[in-house]
Amino acid sequence: LRLFSGSANIPLAQEVARYLGMDLGPMLYKHFADGEIYIQIQESIRGCDVYLIQPTCRPVNDHLMELLIMIDACRRASARQVTAVIPYYGYARADRKTAGRESITAKLVANLITEAGANRVLAMDLHSGQIQGYFDIPLDHVYGSPVILDYLLAKQLSDIVVVSPDVGGVARARAFAKKLNDAPLAIIDKRRQAHNVAEVMNVIGDVAGKTAVLVDDMIDTGGTITEGARLLRKEGASQVYACATHAVFSPPAVERLSSGVFEEVIVTNTMPITEELRFPGLTVLSVA
Ligand code: R5P
Repeated sequence: LRLFSGSANIPLAQEVARYLGMDLGPMLYKHFADGEIYIQIQESIRGCDVYLIQPTCRPVNDHLMELLIMIDACRRASARQVTAVIPYYGYARADRKTAGRESITAKLVANLITEAGANRVLAMDLHSGQIQGYFDIPLDHVYGSPVILDYLLAKQLSDIVVVSPDVGGVARARAFAKKLNDAPLAIIDKRRQAHNVAEVMNVIGDVAGKTAVLVDDMIDTGGTITEGARLLRKEGASQVYACATHAVFSPPAVERLSSGVFEEVIVTNTMPITEELRFPGLTVLSVA
């Protein structure tokens, strides 16, 4: 078994390696003058089971291309099996056509990863479960929720209501609520008018006087979850926690999340969270 990391989240890969009691394999990574990526695996991997850790997070296109080149390099080096470990799967939100003449990028990326030569994929909290079926190779789908749930359970919060920030996230929130001692569920009915602009309409369920735990797969610009939290406060929630596996944190997420509406924002390290993305009240848990 050999483990290699792309450049997207080396600290996470190092943690995984430590957990497994092994070192990350040597890999040369550089850019040509025109921006093209060069990768060379610097040890023999002939006949090996190779695991490549690379979330396709920001800059998404560079990290995706790097992953494809890593897979291709391993396949051409006669690895027995290449597993792409993708803690965050970018381009996942376009998982169907919502208007004419659009691309389904989640499927396109699955095709690219398979065509590059991956034999298996390990992905975490895919934006939608059906993306598993976009691959004709085995895909293990794992979740960040166990680490978030352990953390929340240890806090012994009382009178919790788990809230899905949109109708699409109900199954995720319901599973979460079940593990939080069968907490009740509320749903925010949201209408989105444009990409990255969330418009919150109303809350289905009772949140007054309760500790609301908003659960989403990702926080990108923070619009969805912050608008949701404001609405929950308006409806009488006593405090609001935000939980998400993927901290995408595109601007102006930090401003929004640190505006005081949240008691705490709890995310995981599927992608690196640099110093400028950290703020008081942010907790980053490890999924290593
Ligand atoms: C939407 O379907 C997703 O689950 C997230 O709610 C969304 O992508 C978050 O984006 P933002 O933080 O920009 O509102």
